[in-house]
Amino acid sequence: MSAPSGQCRLDGRDSTLIFCWNQGPPALLYQGAKLTDNLDLETFALTRIRPLPQAVLDVVDPVSLHPEGGRGFLGYPGLVGRRDLADWDGQQKLQSIEPIDHGVLFHLHDEPRKLALTLRCTLDPETDVAVFTSQLKNSGDTDFDLDWLCAAAIAPDAAYSEALSFHGRWCAEFEVSRDHIMPGLTMKENRRGRTSHDAFPGLILTPPSTDQNQGACIGLHLGWSGNHRMVLEKLSSGDLQVQMGVLFLGGEGQLKPGAQFETPPLYVAFADNGLNALSQKFHDHVRKRIVSFPTPDKPRPVIVNTWEAIYFNHNWDSLTALVDAAAAAGAERFVLDDGWFEGRPDDTSGLGDWFADPDKYPNGLKPLSDYVHDKGLEFGLWVEPEMANPNSQLLTKHPDWALSLAPYPVVEGRNQLVLDLSNNDVIDYLFERLSALVSENNVAYLKWDMNRDLVMPGNTHNTAGAYQQTRALYVLIDRLCEQFPALEIESCASGGGRVDYGILERTHRFWPSDSNDPVERVAIQTGFSYFFPPEVMGAHIGPEWAHTSGRGLDVLFRALVASPGHMGIEADLRKMGDDDRAIIKAEVARHKADRKIWHTGTFFRIETPDPALTGFASISKNKDQARVVLVQTARPASALAAPLKICRLDPDKIYKVVLSAATGPIEKANRKFDNPLWGQGVVLPGSVLMQAGLVLPALYAQTALALSFEAVVP
Ligand code: GLA
Repeated sequence: MSAPSGQCRLDGRDSTLIFCWNQGPPALLYQGAKLTDNLDLETFALTRIRPLPQAVLDVVDPVSLHPEGGRGFLGYPGLVGRRDLADWDGQQKLQSIEPIDHGVLFHLHDEPRKLALTLRCTLDPETDVAVFTSQLKNSGDTDFDLDWLCAAAIAPDAAYSEALSFHGRWCAEFEVSRDHIMPGLTMKENRRGRTSHDAFPGLILTPPSTDQNQGACIGLHLGWSGNHRMVLEKLSSGDLQVQMGVLFLGGEGQLKPGAQFETPPLYVAFADNGLNALSQKFHDHVRKRIVSFPTPDKPRPVIVNTWEAIYFNHNWDSLTALVDAAAAAGAERFVLDDGWFEGRPDDTSGLGDWFADPDKYPNGLKPLSDYVHDKGLEFGLWVEPEMANPNSQLLTKHPDWALSLAPYPVVEGRNQLVLDLSNNDVIDYLFERLSALVSENNVAYLKWDMNRDLVMPGNTHNTAGAYQQTRALYVLIDRLCEQFPALEIESCASGGGRVDYGILERTHRFWPSDSNDPVERVAIQTGFSYFFPPEVMGAHIGPEWAHTSGRGLDVLFRALVASPGHMGIEADLRKMGDDDRAIIKAEVARHKADRKIWHTGTFFRIETPDPALTGFASISKNKDQARVVLVQTARPASALAAPLKICRLDPDKIYKVVLSAATGPIEKANRKFDNPLWGQGVVLPGSVLMQAGLVLPALYAQTALALSFEAVVP
C-alpha cells in the first residue's frame, strides 16, 4: 500500500517549504518567502500542474527530493547502485508520512528492489535553516552496492540562474566564483579524504540581480568532513537541481543485508533580501544548533600561538619569555604549536609519538603549562592525531596501522602517513595519549591539525576506508569531548582544509588558512563568512613579514583585519619593537571591548563599487552598537570612495560614528579632510547613515580603518 498523492508544508521564521507527492518520492515544490497561513495546499498543488510539451516522455514530474530514472527523470539520479547485475534502477513508492518536530519523514520502499528509503526534512523555526538527510536500508538478502545517494535534490526555479561556488588552495581558501549556470551537468568532487581546500561543499544559487543586501538566494551546505560530490544540473526542461552527498571510493557504499546508510545533513536556507541575510541565517544556525561552546557565555579568549614565532625551536627560555609577552599583551590562552613531542626537530619525524620531547621538555609539559596557568592564561596544545611519520616509533612498532593499499607503494604527504582510524587499536592508542596529555597538563584547547590528503586509503582488509575514516574521526573526537567536557578544539587542516558543519558540531573554531597576510586574509574571511560566523574564525596578527606570501605589512593593518574573528597573535612578541607591542596591546584591548558585538551580533560583508575596498560589519542585537572594519587591499579604483552605507541599523536611532583606527599613512593620503568623522565624530540618524552614507577619507593601498557606531540619546 503506498500513500496517495498529497501535500504538506513546513514553516520557518520567515520561509515556507511545500512538499507534494504522488505515490513516489515527494518534490520540494516551493522554497521561498513565508506564504499565507490560509493557503489551501490542494489548490496550490493543482496550480503547479505542468503542461506536457512536444516530444518528451508522457510524464513531466518536477524534480523530486530523490530523482529516479525509473520514473522518467533523465537527469542525474538521486541513487546509483546495483545488486550483482540486477536492481540497477527502480521506483520508490511512498508508504507513509510521519510528522516529527518541525519536520516530516517520508518513508518509501522499492519492494522489487528491496530498498527502503527514508527522507528526513526539517525547517528550523528559529534559524529558518532546513536540514535534509536520506537513509537507505537494504531490505534484501544479498549485498547492495551503493555508489551514490544524495541527501536531497533541491530544485529552485529557473530564475536562479547564477551559482556562487567556493574553491581555493592552501593559503587561498574560500575563493568565491559567481557564474552563470551552464546547461547540462556540472559536477564537483572531492577525493582528498578531508573537506578540502579546493571544493568546499557549499553552493549559493541566485538570480543575477541579487547582491549582498537585496534579492533572493538559496544556500546549500553538506555537513561532512570527507569525500563528497556536488551536482548542479540545468535540464533542457528548464528544471534545475542541486544534489550533495558522500563520494564513495570503490565499494565503500556496500550495504550488507539489513544494513543501512544515512547521508550527512544537507543544510539549505533561503533569503529574499540578499546574500548577507542568507549568511545571517547560517550564522544563526551555527550559533544555535551546530557549535556548542563548553561555557556558552564566555568570550572567545585571545590566543597566542607559537608557530610563526618559534616554529620547531622550543626551549624553556624562549617559551617562558613568549608567555610573559603574551600575558603582557593581554592574551588569555597560550597555544603550544608543533615541535613539542619526541623526535620533532622538523617536519620529517615525530608524528605519532605523542610524548613530550625529553630534550626540550625534560620534565614533560607540566612545568610549561603551570607557568602559563600561573600567568593567568589557559594552556592549549597542537596535535595531529590522524598522522604518523613512517620513521616514528609508533609505525615502526605497528607498520600495519597506516592506511595503504598493498602491494602498491604509499604516497607520502609532508613526509607522513595516515593512521587507519577504523582499527580500534589505533583509536584506543590515540584516545589514551590525548586523554593523558589533556589531563596531565590541564589542557583547555587542542589545535587538531590534519596536514595531508588521503591516497589509496586501504584499511586492514585492503578495502577502501575514506568514508569510515571520517566517521571514526567523529567518534574519536566525540569520545574525547565526552571525557573532557570543558575542552575546546580547533579544526585545522593545513589551514582551511577541514571547514564544515560536520566537524564544527564537535569542535569550536577553525583555522581558516595558514595565510596570516592581511591582504589575502580579507578575501579568505569574506568567503568563509558566507557559511560561518566570525567567532569560529581563527584570525591572528601574524609577523610583519608573512612567510606564506612574502608581503610585509604594518601591525595595525594586520590587527584590524584580525579583529572581527576569534583573535590571536602568531608573531614573535619578544622580538618586536616597543611601538608594535604597544599597538598589539591596544588592539587586543579594543578587540576585547568589541568582541561581543562581532561574536553575537548581525554580521555583514561590505561591498563597495571599488572591488579593492571591502570589509566587515557587525551590528549588536539591540542595534545600539555597530563596528566596521574597512580594508583597501589595492590602489583605489577612483581617487575618492563612494559614501559608505551601513544597512539595517535602526533608522530611528541616532548614532555617533567615530573613526576609531586608521592605518598609516592616512594623513598623507588626505592632504585635507574637514569632515567631523576625522575629528570628534559624526552624529546622524540611522536612516541617514543607511541611505546617504558616510563620506570616507582617501585611502592608500593596503590600509584599513575601523569605525564604531554607538547609539546616543539625542
Ligand atoms: C600546519 C598548520 C599550521 C601549523 C603547522 C605546524 O601547516 O596549518 O598552522 O600548525 O601545521 O606544523
